[in-house]
Amino acid sequence: MNLIDGKLISQQIKAEISEEVKSMLASGKRAPHLAVIIVGHDGGSETYVASKVRSCEEVGFKSTKIAFEDSISEEELLQKIDELNNDGELDGFIVQLPLPKHISEQKVIEAIDFRKDVDGFHPVNVGRMSIGLPCFVSATPAGIMELLIRYEIPTSGKHCVVIGRSNIVGKPVASLMMQKANPGDATVTVCHSRTKNLKEITLQADIIIAALGIPEFLTADMVKEGAVIIDVGTTRVPSTETKSGFRLKGDVKFDEVAPKCSYITPVPGGVGPMTIVSLLKNTLLAAKGEIY
Ligand code: GUN
Repeated sequence: MNLIDGKLISQQIKAEISEEVKSMLASGKRAPHLAVIIVGHDGGSETYVASKVRSCEEVGFKSTKIAFEDSISEEELLQKIDELNNDGELDGFIVQLPLPKHISEQKVIEAIDFRKDVDGFHPVNVGRMSIGLPCFVSATPAGIMELLIRYEIPTSGKHCVVIGRSNIVGKPVASLMMQKANPGDATVTVCHSRTKNLKEITLQADIIIAALGIPEFLTADMVKEGAVIIDVGTTRVPSTETKSGFRLKGDVKFDEVAPKCSYITPVPGGVGPMTIVSLLKNTLLAAKGEIY
């Protein structure tokens, strides 16, 4: 069994990005600039946003955090988005989700100029991705593809089973894995909460991408010997052993599944660290004008 070390790969990629920023600065360009909007005080979101801002600093990007209280109206938020869309000194920005119930997430996503949508959530980016055009690919699917590249895991002709059909992970990663590309060229099956005979399907998988958000859902009896396992789960469970009072649990029962696999991502330290790096890569692409 080989452990896929997302933490290590993310550090390597951050070092590569830092080098690119240095050469941009040396050639007289300004540093890439990312803005992050956060609304309210969701614990998970505050942690993620702090980590995104810190990562920008690490690689030499400029970052701007824009925090609003829960009470902000949808109209005010849309106004801010319009302002950022027209800010020539800003390469990309994201609005951290989830948003309070009185604000439509879809409206917000569609208000962002797709050329600055470094989260890759705008329908233009999602559509371009699904037909294989240059675009901003959303962070988690992009991070998974990067891990497959860096570990040289073959995907062509393999049977890839994706468990979960979310817009953020399941659907885009299924789309990328079936794309005529490397990684890609896989035969993809997408399973979800209404799938019958799930175990029969997962037992046929050469690659399983578990992204359903149920801790320890995937057990050893559901996995073929030698399969590649990508665990996207990040459920927070209470813990007395950590300072924060919680720890992250994946969708895979790691201890029993790991001995059967050829490759597996741990939680934490697998897919998670790759997501922020993907956001940084998209911001760099935006700054260099390489997509649009
Ligand atoms: N909430 C959870 N993941 C994400 C993400 O990748 N981007 C944004 N904007 N919000 C999120």
